[in-house]
Amino acid sequence: MRERTIFVLIVVALLLLGLGYWSATNLDLMPQQASTRAVVVDQLFRILLGVATVIFLLVEGALVFAILRFRARPDDVSDAEPYHGNNSLEIIWTLIPALIVLVIGVYSFRVLTQIERQPDSPMVVEVIGRQFSWEFRYPQEGISSAVLHLPVDQTVRFEITSEDVIHSFWVPAFRAKRDATPGQISDLVITPNDIGIYPIRCAELCGVGHANMVADVIVESRADFEAWVASVSSIPEDPIEAGRFVYEQYGCGACHALSDYGSVAVVGPELDGIGERGATTVEGLDARGYILQSIINPNAYLTPGFQANLMPQNFGDRMSEQELDILVDYLLEQ
Ligand code: CUA
Repeated sequence: MRERTIFVLIVVALLLLGLGYWSATNLDLMPQQASTRAVVVDQLFRILLGVATVIFLLVEGALVFAILRFRARPDDVSDAEPYHGNNSLEIIWTLIPALIVLVIGVYSFRVLTQIERQPDSPMVVEVIGRQFSWEFRYPQEGISSAVLHLPVDQTVRFEITSEDVIHSFWVPAFRAKRDATPGQISDLVITPNDIGIYPIRCAELCGVGHANMVADVIVESRADFEAWVASVSSIPEDPIEAGRFVYEQYGCGACHALSDYGSVAVVGPELDGIGERGATTVEGLDARGYILQSIINPNAYLTPGFQANLMPQNFGDRMSEQELDILVDYLLEQ
């Protein structure tokens, strides 16, 4: 090789490595970090981004160079020269990618074993996905909620499942995502380490309400968490407050619009005015009977424009009689 060619190759290599290093250290593509695993996951992502930048620029650069440098001139109608391979080139472009894949594979595996290590005595939260809301059960505390509350710096093991189709429990700020599969419980271990409110998403297309299947995780101090547990364990005395409380607890707002509560979803029928409307909707049922039937046996009467089985069929089993009364009384007032 001529000295000039070697010099150009060295300059190009240094430039590519510099750009790769720059993209790995300066491009900020990830959301806020709110768990211990976020640090190692982001580190891995940054290294992959740096390597990918070098490879992308190298491949696309060579392509553009070849197009410009070796294109056919307007008056050139000759055939290209036949070409019969180049052993050293083929060895080089097999060995280098194999080496890169090997290093990345070993490194990724180490990150994976590090973040999936099972703790000795974690807090357990059961995550249940259903069309189209999340439910979080705290077996040790004996409560359930549509909003996920977690004490900061406490390792928690999520036990994730679904009651209907496949959903996916995803908390971007935790760098964690795991499928919620019917008939199966999947583990996910997380240690949230930053107080704040972060979004929970469903990351698996699960039906018409998929985009509405969102919730919040509130990471708070141990004292705030315990105060919340105490407040959830007791239903408020005021009937309207109690109604909002039950409506919140069962995630009704994920699918229904209701002005008093402030939910705007359109997966299921709107609930404003249901107390008045309900008196004449189904022959033989008064408003109370109609609302109760719609909660525990939603397929018995379908509001025009809505399909059967969109609403979970098991509220009758999940809700206590007292909760059902509170919710029906509340909706009668709407
Ligand atoms: Cu549940 Cu998408």
